[in-house]
Amino acid sequence: MNVDQLDWNALERLRGAFLSGTAGRAVYWKSMTDLASYDASFGERIGWKWDAVLAELRRRGWQPPAGSVYDFGCGSGIAGRRMIREWGVKHLPVLRVQDRSSIAEQFALERAKSEFPELAVERFTADEPLTPQSGPATLVVSHVISELAPADRQRLMEWLPRFDAVIWVEPGTHADSHALVEVREAVRTQMRVVAPCTHEKTCGLTAPENGRHWCHSFGKPPGGVFADGDWVRFAQRMGIDLRSLPYSFLVLDRRVGVACGGDEAGEMSRVLGHPRVYKGYAKLFNCCARGVEEITLQRRTDPGLFKRLDRGTHCGLFRWVLDGGTVREAAEVGGNPEETILGEAEDPIP
Ligand SMILES: C[S@@+](CC[C@H](N)C(=O)[O-])C[C@H]1O[C@@H](n2cnc3c(N)ncnc32)[C@H](O)[C@@H]1O
Repeated sequence: MNVDQLDWNALERLRGAFLSGTAGRAVYWKSMTDLASYDASFGERIGWKWDAVLAELRRRGWQPPAGSVYDFGCGSGIAGRRMIREWGVKHLPVLRVQDRSSIAEQFALERAKSEFPELAVERFTADEPLTPQSGPATLVVSHVISELAPADRQRLMEWLPRFDAVIWVEPGTHADSHALVEVREAVRTQMRVVAPCTHEKTCGLTAPENGRHWCHSFGKPPGGVFADGDWVRFAQRMGIDLRSLPYSFLVLDRRVGVACGGDEAGEMSRVLGHPRVYKGYAKLFNCCARGVEEITLQRRTDPGLFKRLDRGTHCGLFRWVLDGGTVREAAEVGGNPEETILGEAEDPIP
């Protein structure tokens, strides 16, 4: 990022719309400069969340079908580009974008083409049917749900099962997480649930007693960002805690024979949000096929894991041996301890 190239007025206007929850009311992209400033700052930060999601999918051995990526509500196009960066133009040779703002579509197409000259890029319309000739298709949706009117959200939800796979990433707020749970519950009979879940049963967060909890994880900004004067200035001016990168996500798959997010024995668990760490023990909000429940890990049971939970450098997925609500044995699943870091929950700014 080069702060001298940012249009601060535009960023402040966008930030105001995101924070006040009014962004959905009208098109807010006024110029290509708006989009360039967003892409280098808020958009790049969203890209770090995508990096965390795609890294988890790789760890879990999942990949999108070879074919096209459709980026709905593309904005500057960060989600589509992150997909191509991760899986390559050979695997994903076509990017289609759609936004209610035509200049956003234009920016996303141009930026993608300049980053990946070999990529075929075009617009799509939300009503366009996918035909067998369209080939395998993955839909990506990023930081859009709070801007959609109920009818648009419903239409998008009905549209999901047309795709072979869907990757949907939202800010890690309570409201956005629960909105994704609604999407999950509406489509899980038509598509398999790959992630964040470790099972395909009813989401435990739909139980009224769990309504105050939400499913969120934390990404990790690239090394060097905290010491980068431009990022630090951006964060100060926009009131953003750079260390904190909460997100919620949902990955669905309609392909036959593709493994879902759990393990065969249905024993894998996900820890939602931050563990609450006390002197000699930690309270974890655990999600597995049985539902969601609070469990306790004593420091002495696994001092190494206890430390990683405290620092937020755990991978989020575990196999536990439990005795009542207490962990007796713990194993991190495919863990890359560098994947997640500590941060504050609830961050309404993309
Ligand atoms: C916060 S931006 C996110 C942009 C991009 N997906 C990202 O992650 O950086 C939300 C985008 O959704 C678009 N949007 C809002 N309502 C929409 C609708 N009903 N149909 C299509 N796009 C919409 C906005 O124009 C904007 O580009």
